[in-house]
Amino acid sequence: MLESQNWIKTENVSDADLIILNTCAVRAKATDKVYSALGRIRRAKKESALLGIVGCVARESGSDAFRRIPELNFVLGPQSYHKLPEIIKNPETKLLNIDLGGLEKFDELPQMTKSPTVAYIPIQEGCNHCCTYCIVPYTRGRELSRPFDDIIQDTINAAKTGAIEICFLGQNVNGYKYTDETGNLYKLSDLIRETAKLPEIHRIRFTSSYPTEMTDDLIEMFGIEPKLLPFLNMPIQSGSPRILKMMNRPDNLDNYKNIVKKLKSVRPDIQISSDFIVGFPDETDEDFEQTLNIAKKIKYINSYSFKYSPRPHTAAAMMSNQISEQIKTVRLQRLDSQLNENQREFNTSCIGQEMMCLCEGLDKTGRHLVFRTPYMQQCIVEKPNTKIPPLQKIKITDANKASLRGELIK
Ligand code: 5AD
Ligand code: SF4
Repeated sequence: MLESQNWIKTENVSDADLIILNTCAVRAKATDKVYSALGRIRRAKKESALLGIVGCVARESGSDAFRRIPELNFVLGPQSYHKLPEIIKNPETKLLNIDLGGLEKFDELPQMTKSPTVAYIPIQEGCNHCCTYCIVPYTRGRELSRPFDDIIQDTINAAKTGAIEICFLGQNVNGYKYTDETGNLYKLSDLIRETAKLPEIHRIRFTSSYPTEMTDDLIEMFGIEPKLLPFLNMPIQSGSPRILKMMNRPDNLDNYKNIVKKLKSVRPDIQISSDFIVGFPDETDEDFEQTLNIAKKIKYINSYSFKYSPRPHTAAAMMSNQISEQIKTVRLQRLDSQLNENQREFNTSCIGQEMMCLCEGLDKTGRHLVFRTPYMQQCIVEKPNTKIPPLQKIKITDANKASLRGELIK
C-alpha cells in the first residue's frame, strides 16, 4: 500500500519519515519490547518523522499508548491497518482506530507485484475459543473467514509472481468456514484442494490448528494431496486434563491422541508440533510431569514452549495460585530439554534420507545455501557454482539438534 504511494524502505531509523511498529501482544514480554523499542526510536528519529504502532499492542493499549509515548502519531488495531494513508494525509492529527470492524482491510490492500517463495496468506482472523490465558479473542475479536474466491485469487497471484509454497494463516486456521451467496460452504480442505491445482505451487501448509477442529475432511487431505506437507502444528498447551479444563481447552487426551493416530494412518510420515505453556495458575509438579509425558509420547518436533504470562482481559490472570517465576523457569528448562531431545532424535533419523527442500537463501558466511525441509527443519548445503532452482532434492548427510546438513542430488 505504501509502495504504491512511492514510499521506500530505509535501514536507518534516523533517515525514516514514517516509522511503523507491527506488534504482538500475546505475552507481556512482547508488549514490553514494543515500549522499549519506542523509547529508543523516539530519541533516534527525525523530529518530523511520523511514528505509530499497529496490531495487537495498539488494540491492547488504546489511547493509553499516546499517554505513555507522546511522540506517537497513530495507534491502529489489527483490523485497521488500511487507515494508514489517513495519517500521511493529515500528519498533524493523532489517529486512533482500534475498532474490530471486520476484514475490509483485505479489500483495501493492493495485490503484490512480487511474492516471496513462501507466500503467507491470511484466511481467517480472530478466535471464538476463549482459552482463559489468551488475549487474542480480545485483540482480534470473533472469528471471521475471508471469502473463498478472494483467497484463491491471492494464491493465484502469489503463484504468478514467484511463490512456490503457500502457507495459510489464521489464529484458528482450521476453523475456516465461508458460505457464499448461493449457500455453498467452503472449508480449509477446499482451499487446499483448489490451491494444489496451481502448477507453480509445490508445497502447502497451514498454521495454527485447534485440535478438535481437525475434521475428517481435513485429515483425509493429508492422505490425498501430496503437495500438503507432512507436518502439522496442532498445539496441545498442557498434558494435564485438569489444567486443560482450567485453560478452557479440549481436555480429552484420548481424543487428541486419536486425531494424531488418524493423521498417521493416512500419512505415515507426518510429524506434529505443538505449543506449550508452563506455569499456568495452580499447575502442580504432577500436572507438569503430565506435560513432559505427552511431549515424549507424541514425539513432537519443532515445538514452541512459553512461560505462562498473565494478560489483561483474560480470566486466567485473575486466578489464584499464580506460579512463581522461579518455578516457571525450571519447568520451561525441563520441557525444553525434552523437546530438544525429540528434535535431535528426529533430525538424526533423517540422515540418509532424500527430501525435497525449499531454498531460503544464503547463510551468514555466504558459502552455504539454507533450505527448509518438508518438516520445517533448516538444512545447510554447500553453495554450488551454478544458479539452481529453489526446490531441490537433497540427501541429508548430518544432523544436530538445531539443523541438518545435506548435499544436492545431481
Ligand atoms: N502466556 C504464555 N503463552 C501464551 N500463549 C498464548 N497466550 C499466552 C500467555 N498468556 C502461547 C500459546 C499459543 C501461542 C501462540 O502463544 O501457546 O499457542
Ligand atoms: Fe488464543 Fe489459540 Fe485459544 Fe484462540 S485457540 S483463544 S488464539 S490460544
